[in-house]
Formats: sequence, C-alpha cells, structure tokens
Amino acid sequence: MQLQEKIELSLAEKIQSIFPEEHSIPAEVQLIDPIHQTEYLINGELRRWDGPTQESFSSIYLKGEAGLTPKLIGSFPLLTEKEALEVLDAAVAAYDYGRGPWPTMSVAGRIEHIQDFAYRMKEKRQEVVKLLMWEIGKSLPDSEKEFDRTIAYIEDTIDALKNLDRNNSRFVLEQGIIGQIRRAPLGVTLCLGPTNYPLNETFTTLIPALIMGNTVVLKPPRPGVVLYSPLLEAFRDAFPPGVVNTVYGNGREVTPPLMASGKIDALAFIGSSRAASSLKKLHPKPHRLRSILGLEAKNPGIVLPYADLDLAVKECVLGTLSYNGQRCTALKILFVHTQIVDDFLERFSAAIANLKFGMPWEKGVTVTPLPEPGKPKYFTELVEDAQQFGARIVNQGGGTVNETFFYPAVIYPATAEMRLYREEQFGPVIPVIPFDDIETPIQYIVDSDYGQQVSIFGQDADTIAKLVDPLVNQVCRVNINSQCQRGPDTFPFTGRKDSAEGTLSVADALRAFSIRTLVAAKNTEVNKSMLTKIVREHQSNFLSTDFIL
Ligand code: G3H
Repeated sequence: MQLQEKIELSLAEKIQSIFPEEHSIPAEVQLIDPIHQTEYLINGELRRWDGPTQESFSSIYLKGEAGLTPKLIGSFPLLTEKEALEVLDAAVAAYDYGRGPWPTMSVAGRIEHIQDFAYRMKEKRQEVVKLLMWEIGKSLPDSEKEFDRTIAYIEDTIDALKNLDRNNSRFVLEQGIIGQIRRAPLGVTLCLGPTNYPLNETFTTLIPALIMGNTVVLKPPRPGVVLYSPLLEAFRDAFPPGVVNTVYGNGREVTPPLMASGKIDALAFIGSSRAASSLKKLHPKPHRLRSILGLEAKNPGIVLPYADLDLAVKECVLGTLSYNGQRCTALKILFVHTQIVDDFLERFSAAIANLKFGMPWEKGVTVTPLPEPGKPKYFTELVEDAQQFGARIVNQGGGTVNETFFYPAVIYPATAEMRLYREEQFGPVIPVIPFDDIETPIQYIVDSDYGQQVSIFGQDADTIAKLVDPLVNQVCRVNINSQCQRGPDTFPFTGRKDSAEGTLSVADALRAFSIRTLVAAKNTEVNKSMLTKIVREHQSNFLSTDFIL
C-alpha cells in the first residue's frame, strides 16, 4: 500500500471513530442528567407547562452496544400560538405604553437591575459553558469565550450607557428655547438569536434593548434552547415582572402571530434575510417597526501575489474554519492569485491536516460535530455539485462524513456555475477561485447579494490602497492581512444589501434600541423656575441633571 493511501486510511479511521463511549468522557464535562424544562417565563413567573415538549439532542453521538446514538440533552416546552400571545401581552403590559415601572425607571435604576442579572448569570458559567459544548458542539475554549465575552459586553454596555447619560444630563439653551434631550425606549422588543452564538449574539441585542427601557419577548434559538434553562431564574429574579419573558416552540407556529399582532415595536433578529423579510412583512404597520438584523454573508478572502503566505494561510484557516466555519463573519470564498495559488493550496491543505478534530472538550480541538441536522448532507451536495463542474477536493480526507461530523473540504478550482459560488454554506466547505485580474474578486463583491466584510492579504501599500477605496463602498469592514470578524465589540458591526439592517456595537446598539426624545420650553422666568424646581426636587427621571459615576 502506498504511503499516501495509508495516511488516507488512518484519517478515515480516525473520523469513523470520532465519537466516544460515554464512560470515556472526562467527569467534569459529562452531562449526567438531561435537563427537562417544563416552565416558561411570563410576567415574572416561571409558569408550568404540561403540554407537549420537544426533545433536544446533542450534535455529539455516543458509542454504545446499539452503535452510535445522539446524546439526549433535554427537552423544552412546545408552546402554541395561545401561550405565545399571552407572553407578548405580559411584555405589553409591563411596558404599558411607556408608563410601566421599567420604561420610566431612572437610568441608574435600570443599570442596577442589569448588574444584578450579570452577577446571577456569572454564577451559572459552568453550567452554560457545558451546555454550549453539548448543545451546539462548540469547543471548550470557544464556549468559555462566548460566555465571558457576553459578560464583558454587559459590563461595556453599562459603561457606554453611563457615558451617554452623562452627556445628556444637562439642559441646552438654543434660540431662546431650553431643552433636555435623552434617548427613550421603543416599546416591546422581540429578540430572536442564532444557533451559532446562541448566548452572545442574542445578548448583544437583548441587553441593550433592556437597558434602554424596552420590555422583551425572548425566543432562544434551536439548537441553543436548553442552555438558557440555567438562566431563567436569574431573568425572573433580576427584573420586574413582565420585563423579560420567554417563548419556546416551533418558530413557524409561535413567531408569526407575535409579529402579526402589531404589538412588536422592535425586531432583533439574527438569521437569514428570507426569514427576516417574511417576519417584517407580517407587521400590520411596518413603519412602526424598528428592525435590527444580523443576516447572512459570503465574505471573500483575496490573496494577492506578494502576500505573506504563512500569514495568509494562518488567517484563512481561522477565517474559514473557526467553529467549523459556522460564523456569519467566516471567510466563505477565497480568491487566490494564479501566481501563488499552487503554493497556497499546498500550505492551506497542510494547515488543515494539522487541525485537531474531535469532541469539543478535547484539548486543542478545532473541528467538531455540527449542531444543525442535515448539514453534512447539504455540504456533500455542494461538493458533488462543484465536482460536476470540474472542481476537485484538494485536501486529504476532505468531505468525509460520520453522522454529524464533516471533515473540512477545500474545493478547487471553484467557478461561477457552482452553488458554492453563491450560497452561504455556513460550514467547513471552502471554495477557492484562482484569479489573474483583481477585477475578478471586485466584480464578485459588486454582484454579490451580500455586503458584510472582506479580507485582503498583501504587502504592497499601493495595491492595498487602490483596493480599499472601492471596497469600503461595497462592504462594511475591510480587513487587511487578517480574517473577518465582529470584534472588538466596540467596533461597528453591520453590513450592506442582504447582510444586515442597523448597526451593532456596544454604543451603537444603545441607539438602535432607543429613540431621541426631548422636553423643550421657552426660556421664560416661569418655565425656568418650574424646571429648576423639578430638577432640584428630583421629581422626574427624565428631567434630571444627576450625573451617574
Ligand atoms: O456569526 C456571526 C458572529 O457575529 C461573528 O462573530 O466574528 O466574533 O465570530 P465573530
């Protein structure tokens, strides 16, 4: 047998034996008892649900006598339209047309509640991190990072709001009119997060929505529901009744009625543009709806002739395969100059071969099982479609499947006929297109339905400068010699075309979930003394010069 075949065989064997027996899993990461959640949060009460529930299975299979079976993580209530609308009514009542205790509370008061929540949430770190691994197959360090980054986001949001509030804690006098301008809440927010960052991305809309005084209906993503169970009590105990409410169930059954009710004022949605459009259309008065959307993307990486190839390969591996490529910011198509493409492919394939694959808790693991059912089949179809149009799998073992596991596949040469050219694969299939003329990738970006980010790899200042100017008008972040990414969270995160609506960053999100409103009065003696009395006697939370430290 040739050496090459032997290597292939051992890789294939390794892939086929990727799933463990339960007893071999380290005790600290074992999920002993499934979490059967029989409650949902409504109006400050964890209400019992005796109706049907949905079982939730891990992306991780376990080896047993009956072969491989997926691990049961738990179950959650399958609410119906009736309960979903009751949950919505709780949020509507707590908002009470802007008159409820939460929307009228002082900024300092709301900050205290959020701080209390963060404190309670931190106590659940271990449980949530473990569930992130089991429910969506995210590696242990990435799961820890997702949790910690979320806590940091909450803390940064508090600081950003203090800043905003300090700037607004004064009266302005303009053209004989005294005014105080602040940001006020929008109303009831429907918060729908994604499976790939079930905690972090959901919280990057949930927390700013709450802290600005909105009330919330939260529907956790599926998969990603069970990891919310440990947080339910914290939501219940840290906020006044009705401020945070949860809905579970089949999205197609419970979400449309919420939108069609016309009672949702802000839609925070991370998912596909198709789903976002159909949800928005359901609102009877769309002009009343504020939408904050994080949608799909097909970020290209462009490797120029004189790029530092070691760096380009390292960043392209990170960009295409961090969390198996299941990031909206992932590099989803690579354009590599023909002068270096052979060298690039060789090094890129070698780097992928060096990536550790396995269970999320294994030290140094990068590639893990996929949480969404049907994904390996979909990726196999994409690969076969590309092969039909003349592409090959460049890397050893690329495209090998074992249940929920798909070994990364590098596809070359990719062309415009292939599905991989257009579709957002959201996983470990990497199309590579050779190019001679820089117009090729630029035209691809111009023609694309997406406009989130791009990465360019090169060392020549002139060429980079010439690329930057047209590209910043096509996408919302041009990354030089690095992969695409959302962070740091203080940077604006958005996209053009079908990739986003609204801008999220720690500070921008506060604006996204609020509207400027002001109190104005002519600068007369009567008005001045009235305003002075209100402020001095702390009669209003809005008209106030209090300075939060
Ligand atoms: O899925 C999209 C995420 O917002 C990406 O965030 O670039 O930090 O992985 P990230």
